[in-house]
Amino acid sequence: MTERTLSIVKPDAVAKNAVGGVLSVFEKGGLRIVASKMIRLTRAQAEGFYAVHRERPFFGTLCDFMSEGPIVVSVLEGEGAIARHRDLLGATDPAKAADATVRKLYGTNIERNAAHGSDGPETALFEIGYFFNALELHQR
Ligand code: CMP
Repeated sequence: MTERTLSIVKPDAVAKNAVGGVLSVFEKGGLRIVASKMIRLTRAQAEGFYAVHRERPFFGTLCDFMSEGPIVVSVLEGEGAIARHRDLLGATDPAKAADATVRKLYGTNIERNAAHGSDGPETALFEIGYFFNALELHQR
């Protein structure tokens, strides 16, 4: 089934000049970019995006991190895009991520882990809508 998922190149990977490197893993992995832009989140916008994690002990530092510099948000499309994207990202903790995954290649630690991907269809709908309107989503 063709799906869409929300992908974020996080501030650590943007600062490492690894935007192209990260997106290249997704493209080579069979996903198409149907929307993409560089933005900088305010602290409040980061809190809104990660609201589902607000009770977690790392919520505060996560929101600080996600608003410390620009990010690149993209919508990726393809067959089974949500699971495929998560496979290409690797485990949340870069130390546990498989070789050639984005987090193994570019992540620093479990928080500063280079990239984010939607974890299911409902989340993908919410997350895509958080950053993009219908006019910004392209048919490819
Ligand atoms: P992400 O896929 O964006 O989803 C939630 C984020 O919270 C995760 O990547 C990490 O950046 C961060 N995170 C998850 N678990 C931890 C943890 N145990 N300690 C610190 N940050 C975490």
